[in-house]
Amino acid sequence: MAERVLELDNVRAGYGETVVLEDIGLVLGASETVSIIGRNGVGKTTLLATIMGHTTLHSGQISLHGKDISGLATYRRVTAGLGYVPQEREIFPSLTLRENLEVATRPGAWTMATVFELFPRLGERAENRGNQLSGGEQQMLAIGRALIGNPTVLLMDEPSEGLAPVIVEELARAVKRLAQTSGLAIILVEQNSRLALDIAPRAIVLDRGRIVFDGPSETLRDDPAKLEQFIGVVKA
Ligand SMILES: Nc1ncnc2c1ncn2[C@@H]1O[C@H](COP(=O)(O)OP(=O)(O)O)[C@@H](O)[C@H]1O
Ligand SMILES: [Mg+2]
Repeated sequence: MAERVLELDNVRAGYGETVVLEDIGLVLGASETVSIIGRNGVGKTTLLATIMGHTTLHSGQISLHGKDISGLATYRRVTAGLGYVPQEREIFPSLTLRENLEVATRPGAWTMATVFELFPRLGERAENRGNQLSGGEQQMLAIGRALIGNPTVLLMDEPSEGLAPVIVEELARAVKRLAQTSGLAIILVEQNSRLALDIAPRAIVLDRGRIVFDGPSETLRDDPAKLEQFIGVVKA
């Protein structure tokens, strides 16, 4: 494998005394994209939140570029290279789209121009306030806002959730392009397993807080019965 960009070793984490994740081991290489799939409530969001430092880490270690970040505050993890697209999107409603991007800008290859190139819709809506944007536009903005912070690892939590199929297709094309050309290491959490397996060459299945599969997406695509056993009835 290329450089180990992100590494989780024996991670046990949750909320206060409550343990949600057990024995999580995961290595992400440079430019690698992996999807995390699994039923509702198995701990997908908790896993991304744990990488960001939003949960209680009971034991284990999280390293970024070989450096232990387990004890760092969230903003220090962002400075160290993590970009986070939360499930709730968390757009500032009273700021314009442009301002939402400006507040997250850190120096690097991603600029307002390159974000607008990836998502032309955002350029057209730049002067609209956050609360005037559609769900799809808010999702694109949430991704753009993470990118403009110029991370090396991008964590995305269910970008397709609640969006119309035509918007999901548009978003999927952009995420695929990111995966193939941006050089970023990406973790994509998705309920929509068809989409996840299509975008990412590697898949991780979570079940009740544990990793029960980590391998080529192809393996699950070619074996619908196995996939269904892992995550329930697969959406068409
Ligand atoms: N803030 C929280 N405090 C306590 N428990 C939580 C919190 N958020 C989620 N959980 C619990 O953690 C488990 C995993 O949730 P989550 O990571 O959101 O699952 P997923 O993203 O896979 O749907 C669930 O049992 C959920 O109820
Ligand atoms: Mg979730």
